[in-house]
Amino acid sequence: MSDRLIIFDTTLRDGEQSPGASMNREEKLRIAKQLEKLRVDVIEAGFAASSDGDFEAIKAIAGAIKESTVCSLARTNDRDIQRAADAIAAAPRKRIHTFIATSPLHMQVKLRMTPEQVHEQARLAVRFARNLVDDVEFSPEDGYRSDIDFLCRVLETAIDEGARTINVPDTVGYAVPELYAEFFRTLREKIPNSDKAIWSVHCHNDLGMAVANSLAAVHSGGARQVECTVNGLGERAGNTSLEEIVMAVKTRRDYFNLDVGVDTTQIVASSRLVSTITGFPVQPNKAVVGANAFAHASGIHQDGVIKARDTYEIMRAEDVGWTTNKIVLGKLSGRNAFKQRLQELGIQLDSEVEVNAAFKRFKDLADGKSEIFDEDIHALVSDQAVQHD
Ligand code: KIV
Ligand code: ZN
Repeated sequence: MSDRLIIFDTTLRDGEQSPGASMNREEKLRIAKQLEKLRVDVIEAGFAASSDGDFEAIKAIAGAIKESTVCSLARTNDRDIQRAADAIAAAPRKRIHTFIATSPLHMQVKLRMTPEQVHEQARLAVRFARNLVDDVEFSPEDGYRSDIDFLCRVLETAIDEGARTINVPDTVGYAVPELYAEFFRTLREKIPNSDKAIWSVHCHNDLGMAVANSLAAVHSGGARQVECTVNGLGERAGNTSLEEIVMAVKTRRDYFNLDVGVDTTQIVASSRLVSTITGFPVQPNKAVVGANAFAHASGIHQDGVIKARDTYEIMRAEDVGWTTNKIVLGKLSGRNAFKQRLQELGIQLDSEVEVNAAFKRFKDLADGKSEIFDEDIHALVSDQAVQHD
């Protein structure tokens, strides 16, 4: 029996907290429409109380999005929560996500509140939010660095007050996979009403482990919602990357045994749109959406994928929205890849001797050039080739 993993996209909220990534209303709306095409379950559209501009952007998204749930973040005070409810009012499916920090450091230094005050504020916030919408999510910010017994009490109260989703963030990217999964297991075991909520994971990438930590919480901790962003955009080193989570769960279905509703063929389009709008380029070697994610440069690999793609590809480029995989011709390429490119370009050489001579010229050229393009090949064989259209 498999169950479902909910994909909660926070590109427009936590992603926007990436310094320099702020977006206007139209840009947010374009991304939200693309996220709906991508079929994410929840779009966290922003933080309604943070600015009038963000309020208007969330409102526009709530009016346009029909399939995905539209969510706004809110601190645990009535004004924030009311603002969130007003912003998402038009959405057919809506959620308020309210949060307060629960770690000793955040409570003492940042909030200047006692644990009892935080606990009470969480109770009242979830209660108030539940009077406004059915679907309420509660997050203890810096949850992973919180005292586990205190955290259990707060989360039990949030569930009692009607929070449907309990999200336990690793706000500062401090977790490691095994320990984070164990943390989830302990919380779920200790909290008597834990099975009344969906457990959610929210990771930051400060140590480069956001995806690994999220997957561990899903596989061994019982989390059934992952909070993530397109291209891993987010505060500091970013958030859990949506494309990596989705493709990991799909590609290793044998291990995770979970269904994901995302239309993976929209992944590359989503990545490009977010990159274009924010001006944050995607690194070439980024998993799934980087320009090199399905590119092969070495002769041995090229020969392998020409014979059978799964020799060096565990996913299909087409399944995530690329038109195809890529054989990049350069100094490491072999004769087989070179011959295949001649064929694709409709170039026929008269004999194997001519192919060998052209291949030699190709290698000489490649020694001084990082990539050989189709125009280079045409030039290489121009005096000896018969071209077929
Ligand atoms: O990282 C975090 O703790 C957050 C919360 C507001 C969920 O983004
Ligand atoms: Zn966050």
